[in-house]
Amino acid sequence: MSEPFNLEKITVPAIQGLSPYVPGEQPQGDGWVKLNTNENPYPASRSVKEAIEQAVDSLRLYPEPTSHALRKTLGAYYDLSDKHVIVGNGSDNILDLITRSFVGNNKAGHTVPSYSLYPVVVGMSGGHLVDIPFEASMELPMDAILKSDASVFFLTNPNAPTGVCFSLDAIEQLLKGLSGILVVDEAYIDFGGRSAAPLVSKYQNLIVIQTFSKSRSLAGLRVGFALAHPSIIAVLDRVRDAYNVDGLAQVGALAALDDQATFEANCQRVIATREQSLKQLHALDWFTYPSASNFLFTQPKDATGRVGQDVAQSFFESLKQQKILVRYFGKYSLTCSFIRVSIGTDTQMKSFFKGVESWLQTESHN
Ligand SMILES: Cc1ncc(COP(=O)(O)O)c(C=O)c1O
Repeated sequence: MSEPFNLEKITVPAIQGLSPYVPGEQPQGDGWVKLNTNENPYPASRSVKEAIEQAVDSLRLYPEPTSHALRKTLGAYYDLSDKHVIVGNGSDNILDLITRSFVGNNKAGHTVPSYSLYPVVVGMSGGHLVDIPFEASMELPMDAILKSDASVFFLTNPNAPTGVCFSLDAIEQLLKGLSGILVVDEAYIDFGGRSAAPLVSKYQNLIVIQTFSKSRSLAGLRVGFALAHPSIIAVLDRVRDAYNVDGLAQVGALAALDDQATFEANCQRVIATREQSLKQLHALDWFTYPSASNFLFTQPKDATGRVGQDVAQSFFESLKQQKILVRYFGKYSLTCSFIRVSIGTDTQMKSFFKGVESWLQTESHN
């Protein structure tokens, strides 16, 4: 007789203790000022809607499996060929492909804090993730990264949740010194950073990842992509789901790429609002990291001038009560006295600063 069914026993060891990724809250109901998941406050190009509407008629057909038209357009956009590009169901999909292809049960590395999906994808593949902590200056810990001896090192540039941007010189130094692959995750690059895309034709150990979710206002469509040497792309293609990007997503992303004017105007509006918001935070005397992204990482200071974990938490909760959502990362000492606020429209940012005033007033009565 066979043994009774035991789910725990047949669950793959790497998955048994795995904590899943916790996405930012998507509140239900109306009236929320949603500044917690770094979405773009402005809509994508109108041509995206038109292209998707037209493509609905073809939904009975499977999509083109390799997203070839998108690869070609993206390749040309970055002065590369279609062989240097792979497209994913969001850049999260690409991170998973990289981990399955090049980490397995080996060592990967990342800086802390950075994007909290890296531990999950590395955990899923049974690998070991080395944490390289930042100092409070948030300068790149070059020596520690170079010594990390990882098959794959994930570097978020600009970093999340701080928004701090690293130079291309530093990235080139890493590419020269690392024996593994450097993944430069550029989810926020269009808001002021310098992309490492021009280095792709020079270094065989570089993967640059970007997404349509932030600067191109298409988080709901799920399109991300990687640029790398064709030999790396060929390996990633081996593990890619046959139809990993659906037909509507492919035409929507192509239409977005075709409307550079809307993309640039939206980025400029976000950058202008970020700089204005930064000034307002400085006027409050709240320490805030310089940001090259569509969010600000700021340390709330209460009415008596105190900062710290309980202050940040109190601020976060007060905003939530006022139906204003931001993100709080209580897990690390370097982040627990800060909150991250995504840059919304000017009206949304007005609501945020009204929320600040209201919190400061209640705080001063406590
Ligand atoms: C640093 C970073 N990389 C990747 C992603 C994932 O983006 P996508 O929507 O393309 O999966 C995010 C999303 O917030 C992110 O912050």
